Amino acid sequence: MNERATLKINGKGHLEIGGMDAVDIAEKYGTPLYVFDEEHIRNMMRVYRDTIEKEYGGNGLVLFASKAFSCMAIYKIAAEEKIGVDVVSGGELYTAVKAGFPVEKAVMHGNNKLLPELELALDNKIGVVVIDSYKEADVLDKLASERKIVQKVMLRINPGVEAHTHAFVQTARTDSKFGFSISDGAAKSITEHVLGKKNLKLLGYQCHIGSQIFEKQSFVLAVGKVMDFMSEIKSELGFEAEALNVGGGFGIWYNDEDPKLKLSDYADFVKTMIDAIKEKAARNSLKLPFLYMEPGRSIVGEAGVTLYTVGAIKDIPGIKKYVAIDGGMFDNPRYALYQSKYSVILANRATEECTEVVTVAGKCCESGDLIAVDVPLPEAKSGDIMAVFSTGAYNYSMASNYNRNFIPAAILVKNGKADYIIKPQTYDDLIRNDVLPDRLK
Ligand code: LLP
Repeated sequence: MNERATLKINGKGHLEIGGMDAVDIAEKYGTPLYVFDEEHIRNMMRVYRDTIEKEYGGNGLVLFASKAFSCMAIYKIAAEEKIGVDVVSGGELYTAVKAGFPVEKAVMHGNNKLLPELELALDNKIGVVVIDSYKEADVLDKLASERKIVQKVMLRINPGVEAHTHAFVQTARTDSKFGFSISDGAAKSITEHVLGKKNLKLLGYQCHIGSQIFEKQSFVLAVGKVMDFMSEIKSELGFEAEALNVGGGFGIWYNDEDPKLKLSDYADFVKTMIDAIKEKAARNSLKLPFLYMEPGRSIVGEAGVTLYTVGAIKDIPGIKKYVAIDGGMFDNPRYALYQSKYSVILANRATEECTEVVTVAGKCCESGDLIAVDVPLPEAKSGDIMAVFSTGAYNYSMASNYNRNFIPAAILVKNGKADYIIKPQTYDDLIRNDVLPDRLK
């Protein structure tokens, strides 16, 4: 388990999060429930922001990659912490707008942004759009011209760096669906194309090499390749980029195969990248670019714990023991999608010795609906409260109503106080958009 100050085992042998007993939380709010630790989220936002301040003279902006967790409260916290956000859809942008987020600090991504999404972005005066196709550049230039504005843009480019992570979360390989490759000349061609657009102002380049990455060298390599490309473009096209966006991707702890990083380790990631940028800039006589970075998982991932209640237990002697919970792939599809590993405990019996190895199964009608496979636990009983750690990123944001289960509510905890940030769904929410045409009535 993570050794954060706000996550501990209390005198009753119960898990405690943000000064609140997980068993009390489960009783009051019900399960399944996402619990978010506000202090952890704010600390993570601050470590990125403050490191840019300290090591780079504040010449940059952290953008929380809100695909990791999007709801009105998180945009509000990001605004309070004076950081920006990265949005990837009209829905994320709309949520930010409704939360009163200053949209000039938002950057929009997406490999296939839809016309209404681009219109929403421009109408709300989005800070920067990261262009990922020729068609998008043409459409955006037209929309900007209609609105008599010059839109700031960057280009998503692909340095061809492979990071050691799951194939689906690697995004900067040459065969990726994202970005213009440096190696085949595509990045240079789109640069020329966008420089020719009257209503677009090209700030520079963005790259994102993948997610759940721990090797600093992968980031250094990617930054180096992009800076070399910037130098090439300067000498060949006379365009000197004023901004560089290095994406997100820093890893977090899920289970004991992962390191447990401290705040200072995340500061080190940032410093290492800044050092690489400074060195490359000096070597290539480039001015220091304004730095954007887009951490998502590392800001909210370890801040989240999901609480469940244990229900059915199926023991197949000598083969497997299943412990079923009241949640599953509808609130956390990451095992089903990526075979992601999680650490679990019984929150009401957190000091008891683990005496068996079990598989935690969800309640969906699907064999692959598992949350954790072969994990150690004390002998679980129906009614125990189970806590699954590091579920703050890409859980709620990828949740669904599969099997017409409810997407769980989420609470934000701090100093012994809890508030809903996402309220519970009801059966009526599930049928809200259903329609019975006359001929079926
Ligand atoms: N910037 C861009 C352009 C991205 O595509 C992503 C993540 C991020 C930033 C944030 O990366 P992070 O710091 O969170 O690693 N659903 C998958 C993760 C997909 C990540 C997609 N892009 C999962 O559950 O592991």
